[in-house]
Amino acid sequence: MAIQWFPGHMHLTRKAIEERIKEIDVVIELLDARLPGSSANPMLAQLTAGKPALKVLNKQDLADPVRTQEWLAHFNALPGTRALGLDASMTSPAKVLVHACFELAPNRGTMVKPMRVLICGIPNVGKSTLINTLKGKRAAVTGDEAGVTKIEQRIVLQDGFYLFDTPGVLWPRIIVAKSGYNLAASGAIGRNAFDEEEVALELLDYLRQHYAPLVEARYKISGVADQTDEQILEAVGRKRGALLPGGRINLQKAADLVIHDFRAAVMGRITLETPAEFSQWLAHGQKLDAERQVKKDAIELDRAVRFKKVPRPPRGKPSDEESSD
Ligand code: G4P
Repeated sequence: MAIQWFPGHMHLTRKAIEERIKEIDVVIELLDARLPGSSANPMLAQLTAGKPALKVLNKQDLADPVRTQEWLAHFNALPGTRALGLDASMTSPAKVLVHACFELAPNRGTMVKPMRVLICGIPNVGKSTLINTLKGKRAAVTGDEAGVTKIEQRIVLQDGFYLFDTPGVLWPRIIVAKSGYNLAASGAIGRNAFDEEEVALELLDYLRQHYAPLVEARYKISGVADQTDEQILEAVGRKRGALLPGGRINLQKAADLVIHDFRAAVMGRITLETPAEFSQWLAHGQKLDAERQVKKDAIELDRAVRFKKVPRPPRGKPSDEESSD
């Protein structure tokens, strides 16, 4: 079943972006480099339509470097868009961000015409960490709880260069089932909103097809590519001693181990989607979503027709049936 999550504070973020967007020159969207398609927010594209976009593939230290290059090329080929990779180990991210923003809006950045940049990103993508680095002190809240809200703040990156942080979160309605699983695996979704076993199985299913040697090396199991996701999860549980009384495998614990290992890149640097895969998933998700919408419209129309077919008799006047008695 597809994962849905409603982190709240959406209206606040939406309103803040709508109010601010007119005077913004560049929109920075922080993406998770391990899932650049799934961690993007289509609602943001709508809200900021036409504004130059800088896609920052954050946490690149955890992602597959070959695939990061593929995603960067994909985004850089889009009109009005630049993309770069980033991670928390970079000591002066301001330099690369400033440089890329000037490429997108070369006429801004003076005292008369300052560069005004808005930074957005889904929870846990590393926005607070980046902002703390940009500010040079730990002022924004960081943490592992997805959905922590903050008030809007303005950071001066250099003279005539202002960065605005959005408060709250802007969370997409998930229409791609795989995106829900990838977001949950990455830590972007609150932990009560998904089933760990289901997420670990989806993760293993992808890893066995694309990163089998990493799984084999980490858990000392062989033939991963030819096993089902359930068999691999059981093998992980057995190898790592996740056992219940009686020797049965504790699948919940095994799932936690797999998700933890992915998040910490213990297996190695992994990216859960390529641009081609993601566009295929998206097309499929959009098709299903459109079909759902057609069904929903048909039900609503049916209700409306039925409602009209049975009009209430006027008050105080007997209905036709009653008067014919
Ligand atoms: P957010 O504001 O977008 O919600 O994210 P936040 O900065 O709070 O970061 C979420 C988690 O991601 C934090 O880890 C943070 O340290 C980690 N993180 C941020 N940027 C990077 C990066 O470039 N690479 C890697 N590997 N990790 C990054 P945490 O364990 O949840 O919290 P903490 O105890 O480290 O603060």
